[in-house]
Amino acid sequence: MALISNDLINEIRRSVDIVDVISNYLPLTQKGKNFFGVCPFHDDTNPSMSVSKEKQIYTCFSCGATGNVFKFVMDYENISFVEAVKLVADNAGISINIGNNYKQKVNKNLEPLYKMYELSEMLYQNNINTVQGKEAIEYLKKRDIDESIIKEFGIGLSLHKRDVLTKLFLSKNYSYDVMLKSGLITKNDYGYIDMYQDRIMFPLWDVSGRIVGFSGRIYKGDGNFKYINTKETEIFKKGEILYNYHRAKDEARRLNTVIIMEGFMDVIRAYTIGVKNVVATMGTAVTKEHVTLLKRMAKNIILLFDGDAAGAKATYTCANELIKVGIVPKIVRLEENLDPDEYIKKYGKEKFLGKLTHPINVMDFKLSYLKKERDLTSNDDMSKYINDVLKELVNIEDEILFELTIKKITEESHLSEELLRKKVNDLKSNDDKKEENVVIKSEKVKKVTNKYTQAEENLIYYMLKSPEVIKIYDRKITYMPTDVYRFLARDISYFYKQYHLINVADFMTFLRDDKEKLDALSHILSLPLKEDFTLEEINDYINAIRDYNINFEQQRLKTKMREITDPIEKAKIAQKIIELKVKGD
Ligand code: CTP
Ligand code: MN
Repeated sequence: MALISNDLINEIRRSVDIVDVISNYLPLTQKGKNFFGVCPFHDDTNPSMSVSKEKQIYTCFSCGATGNVFKFVMDYENISFVEAVKLVADNAGISINIGNNYKQKVNKNLEPLYKMYELSEMLYQNNINTVQGKEAIEYLKKRDIDESIIKEFGIGLSLHKRDVLTKLFLSKNYSYDVMLKSGLITKNDYGYIDMYQDRIMFPLWDVSGRIVGFSGRIYKGDGNFKYINTKETEIFKKGEILYNYHRAKDEARRLNTVIIMEGFMDVIRAYTIGVKNVVATMGTAVTKEHVTLLKRMAKNIILLFDGDAAGAKATYTCANELIKVGIVPKIVRLEENLDPDEYIKKYGKEKFLGKLTHPINVMDFKLSYLKKERDLTSNDDMSKYINDVLKELVNIEDEILFELTIKKITEESHLSEELLRKKVNDLKSNDDKKEENVVIKSEKVKKVTNKYTQAEENLIYYMLKSPEVIKIYDRKITYMPTDVYRFLARDISYFYKQYHLINVADFMTFLRDDKEKLDALSHILSLPLKEDFTLEEINDYINAIRDYNINFEQQRLKTKMREITDPIEKAKIAQKIIELKVKGD
């Protein structure tokens, strides 16, 4: 992500006013120095978001959301940092071409790899339009994929030859080393050969739409490997991309809905009937990166996996992954084990659209999923089923969904509603107890470090206000005990050296979308500290942090001394402990 220079970003930031930008999204009213509005990031009724013209940041004193203009646009529009910068620049009519800039700043080492993929796509697309591509075109026709779709999705063909691509790369002076790194060329006893031979080639794109891999499908006979995907390379990580993301994202945002499928053939088929807010996981489990991408696209997520048992299982796991991060997806299931591609071909567009407009809620899906393979006339199976459903209910925060489900299983089981409710509560309080244990433990840790943590927080708070404090930090602090504060303080110090000034809005730009640091920063900014400080206070914080480090080192040495038997080594360590003690006093 660190591809657009901070200077450029800050230039953009300085040429807009956060008050104007946020006013485009929600009404703001001025009260004194600041502007106030209803916070869009939580269920706000009173205007609890304040926007500071002076500091160029916003802060919600109810939910704690805070950031500069880019962070606001990023979170409001559900887009990435780079996209937010672009949008703010566009809207302000700033004619800085981030597109080009973005490319220029791309890691130079990776550039040949991208180029090789561009070249190979050109070759493959050319192949499919020659006589040698006739059979492939026929295969695609049979699958209802016509020329315009072939073009749109860049579908091509690798020929039934050993080294067409290898030769092309050689003619362009690529080294064998880079060829192997690209994943497009491989080496065997005969030497260097093309990875893909005689397959229909589907390009795979990264989130910004550059080709970073291929999936090659057999199209005659039935060989063993239906699809061969590019191996993981420096530019291709299967778990980090969703097929069709770059093409689907605008439509998904417009409709505020995104549909996830398993295979790219399903996506292509949906596209042909005008359903364009679709992406595919390409058979892999849903990863954290996928979830982040999906969240950026739309609030409503529909899972539309294959109709077979594997698809049901994938739906179940994926739904749980999403619920964990607070997204309750909707589900569409297809009959007769069909995948979306087959379903559309068999039942047509209208019936498919009907399915899409009537997705089922996640609990109804789970009830039928948990019922499968169980004989509910047997007490044993019924009790297993009910217990499973109760466990699922613990995580459901949606009250209506909760009530509806309780009613349903009351009917199914003929048990009393009170009993079922009590069971859920028992499970919940068990969970709470587990959590309490964790909290109690961490409270203890907190108490021990409280004084020091506070010193770290206060020091950072004033570093953000005054270069003088940054200089003191540089001179006197070598190590902040808390990881995130250590990184934050180093960043502030680095930022100051770079720009010779410290200003929160620009520093936030500098942190990009580093969530951990941004959260820590917003916590520190929300501390009820006074505006000005005395040097004595700063010294107190410095001393507290040093005390902590000295104590920590003493403890470490004492433990070490206990473990060591050699008397000379022991004496050396004892000496060190004494030296530390002197330093501490
Ligand atoms: N997949 C893969 N390797 C395989 C099989 C599948 O990488 N050997 C991935 C592909 O990305 C594919 C997805 O998993 O798009 C779903 O697999 P599957 O349902 O078998 O493919 P279909 O979409 O049904 O493909 P087709 O209709 O061409 O058979
Ligand atoms: Mn299929």
